[in-house]
Amino acid sequence: MEEEKGQPFDPHYKINSAVSNIICSITFGNRFDYHDSNFQELLHLLAETLLLIGSFWGQLYNAFPLIMRWLPGPFKKIFSHWEKLQRFVRGVIAKHKEDLDQSDSGDYIDCYLKEIEKSKGDTNSYFHEENLLCSTLDLFLTGTETTATAIRWALLYMATYPHIQEKVQLEIDTVIGQCRQPAMEDKEHMPYTSAVLSEVLRMGNIVPLGVPRMSTSNTTLAGYHVPKGTTLMTSLTSIMFDKNVWETPDTFNPEHFLENGQYRRREAFLPFSAGKRACPGEQLARTELFIFFTALLQKFTFQAPSATVLSFAFTLSLTRCPKPFQLCALSRC
Ligand code: HEM
Repeated sequence: MEEEKGQPFDPHYKINSAVSNIICSITFGNRFDYHDSNFQELLHLLAETLLLIGSFWGQLYNAFPLIMRWLPGPFKKIFSHWEKLQRFVRGVIAKHKEDLDQSDSGDYIDCYLKEIEKSKGDTNSYFHEENLLCSTLDLFLTGTETTATAIRWALLYMATYPHIQEKVQLEIDTVIGQCRQPAMEDKEHMPYTSAVLSEVLRMGNIVPLGVPRMSTSNTTLAGYHVPKGTTLMTSLTSIMFDKNVWETPDTFNPEHFLENGQYRRREAFLPFSAGKRACPGEQLARTELFIFFTALLQKFTFQAPSATVLSFAFTLSLTRCPKPFQLCALSRC
């Protein structure tokens, strides 16, 4: 961002690269150079696949898969993109198998391969290579797109509401200063920044319908009969914009999460959903959000390019992403 020298730029893939490298370190055991064209292609494939799934054609395919399978259309790209992503992950897994060191704890793929080895011969085991491929791709997708989208929303809100950005920067300067990097221990001393990040997750509403689930048996839920095999989606929007709970549900207002200057927990704040199937990446996402956001606002002030009005227009897919936008990052040093 420093290299942009305060000129307008689209932060999308800079943020995606930085965030994705974290989940890549955990699952694949390595980071990628930001200018690595293969890495950039993977990130573009992920982003486009998500967009296509949420598009009109993607939804039509979901509703009528048997008919749509025979028709041409842009949704066909979902399968070719997914195939390319799978080919990449298959290659990474094959390399891990060659280099597997039983004595080293290694990364996610290493640990999974060791579990497959341990459960060899057990036909009921969930640890097999097809599951390794799917769960690794799941982590790559969810660990990249969600947090990166949240950071994009955060920068968009800061550039739109400079008085809120100033208050965050004042807290950063007081608690962390300019000489060291932010750390998670700082968070408990930064109620205003914490409130702003919670409000970004509430208004950003990144995963508005959770992840589609399917009932495994006939059941009754809140008086409704739910037959086995029914697709279920939870509307997190209905909770996070509930007019009976939030003082100003449709306004970006960090005060929702503040009481007497201290951070206030809210029961209806469920961006990661709840229960047994809630987001397994919540802690990682919260850590990434805090560290990236404070590090960026410590070094830069974000603002709209001159004569530009920033918009909160969004594209809805499995995630809710801001439409492409440009902003300026002015160095604070
Ligand atoms: C701001 C960031 C994030 C938000 C708002 C978010 C939100 C969610 C939500 C609402 C669900 C659905 C839960 C349900 O169905 O009840 C979910 C599922 C999931 N999330 Fe996240 N998530 C975020 C970041 C992450 C990260 C960083 C990872 C990777 C480590 C991750 C991995 C997953 C996975 C694998 C699932 C599916 C779990 C399953 O099928 O049981 N998420 N997330």
